[in-house]
Amino acid sequence: MINKAEQIIIFDTTLRDGEQCPGATLNIDEKLAIAKQLSRLGVDVIEAGFAFASPGDFQAVQKIAQLVGTEDGPVICSLARAIKADIAAAAEALKPAVHGRIHTFISTSDIHLEYQLRKSRAEVLAIAEEMVAYAKSFMADVEFSPMDAARSDPQFLYEVLERAIAAGATTVNIPDTVGYMTPSEFGGMIKGIKDHVPNIDQAIISVHGHNDLGLAVANFLEAVKNGATQLECTINGIGERAGNASLEELVMALHVRRQYFNPFLGRPVDSEAPLTNIDTRQIYKTSRLVSNLTGMLVQPNKAIVGANAFAHESGIHQDGVLKNKLTYEIMDAQLIGLTDNHIILGKHSGRNAFRSRLTELGFELSETELNKAFVRFKDVADKKKEISDRDLEAIVNDEIQQTPDLFRVELVQISCGNNACPTATVTLRTPDGEELTDAAIGTGPVDAVYKAINRVVNVPNELIEFSVQSVTEGIDALGEVTIRLRHDSRVFSGHAANTDIIVASAQAYVNALNRLYASLQPQDKQEEVTA
Ligand code: KIV
Ligand code: ZN
Repeated sequence: MINKAEQIIIFDTTLRDGEQCPGATLNIDEKLAIAKQLSRLGVDVIEAGFAFASPGDFQAVQKIAQLVGTEDGPVICSLARAIKADIAAAAEALKPAVHGRIHTFISTSDIHLEYQLRKSRAEVLAIAEEMVAYAKSFMADVEFSPMDAARSDPQFLYEVLERAIAAGATTVNIPDTVGYMTPSEFGGMIKGIKDHVPNIDQAIISVHGHNDLGLAVANFLEAVKNGATQLECTINGIGERAGNASLEELVMALHVRRQYFNPFLGRPVDSEAPLTNIDTRQIYKTSRLVSNLTGMLVQPNKAIVGANAFAHESGIHQDGVLKNKLTYEIMDAQLIGLTDNHIILGKHSGRNAFRSRLTELGFELSETELNKAFVRFKDVADKKKEISDRDLEAIVNDEIQQTPDLFRVELVQISCGNNACPTATVTLRTPDGEELTDAAIGTGPVDAVYKAINRVVNVPNELIEFSVQSVTEGIDALGEVTIRLRHDSRVFSGHAANTDIIVASAQAYVNALNRLYASLQPQDKQEEVTA
């Protein structure tokens, strides 16, 4: 719950704007798993979805509202266009949340008004006012966004914001929808709003921005210096096109440089009080969970959570870090929850050791999830002598994954090598419980396995991304495979970890096919609306 003054409110939109990127589609259980982790991370507001967009979105918002929107939990928010039906759907889905928020929006830039909305400024002004008031009739906490604010005429923007606040908006969110602004312009826009919107002190100023020019985080930090106190961001910066401002970068910038930012929030320069409610030690785990469930890989050089973010390659740097970490490190890896990757478990480790290490790592699994994960752990421990924290994390994330269990890999067998024709035999259990076996040849073992699987599943698709990453160093490391495939214009992702990368490849492919297959079932067929 949002409480402390002089703090920055972290509004997470991974499940709404983040989920809008191609292939990042999550099912309800996966959204719930992410929402629970976001709550452990300590975000103040979770934008759980766009309730009107589809029955699936409605149910996801409702379930998150019910299970995560508790008394001490975060505010649960649903997006809604400035249309009565959208707002009513958001209000209905949010009913179970103790703290709910409707976030309604309408475009204000002339280019959107002319070509997309085909409405005059006067009409937009009236709609904004009327729809904020309508949202307010359902709940006290209402956020209003003038979409494409960054390219809107400032005078018109001030007028719309004034009217929205007068109609009851408690937060006004300023989006750079197309990621066009530079930091000083963005900061200037926030200052302009503070100076020219007469009732601005009655609302929280929030910012929302896309990363088309790679400036979203820098823009937000300038906004903070000029009066914005809510930041809308996503885990790993995922989102539409180049993504949204990344939560972990914003939070760590505010944390590491708090002495710089303190005065802008009216605090003494050397105040050690945290600037956000985020438990930074949950950052790495949240990043891995979102990456695994959405199939959106994190680039190795990504700030804060990339695989190389804390690696020192150059001899000079290594020498310095060995003598004193501060020579080349501005933050400790443990601060974001990166452990020393101790190897503590092996094939003789029992359930209790397994359970207690998971608890130490911050995983809260149900008894069923724990049982499933323990079976996987034993299986991996049979093949890999030493199980590290990273391995545990990969195993658990794999088990938490909630892909529909339609087709299941029962057997993968390959024959390949130089001067050999790669051949694969696979057996899949079908949704009807039947076991079907087929075989194929391919250009390599993975290609052969995928062709054999296609012969069983028989749903046309195009593989658009295939990646293998090793979870730890060492020849016996677990391999994580992430794939994305396209069917019509929709993208589906799959992820799996195994000591055998061909088996992981088969499982990741079947996971993606299961998502595709589920989407072809009647309940998912309706048109979706996106913001
Ligand atoms: O980018 C954008 O403008 C949005 C709004 C709906 C806030 O996502
Ligand atoms: Zn957006």
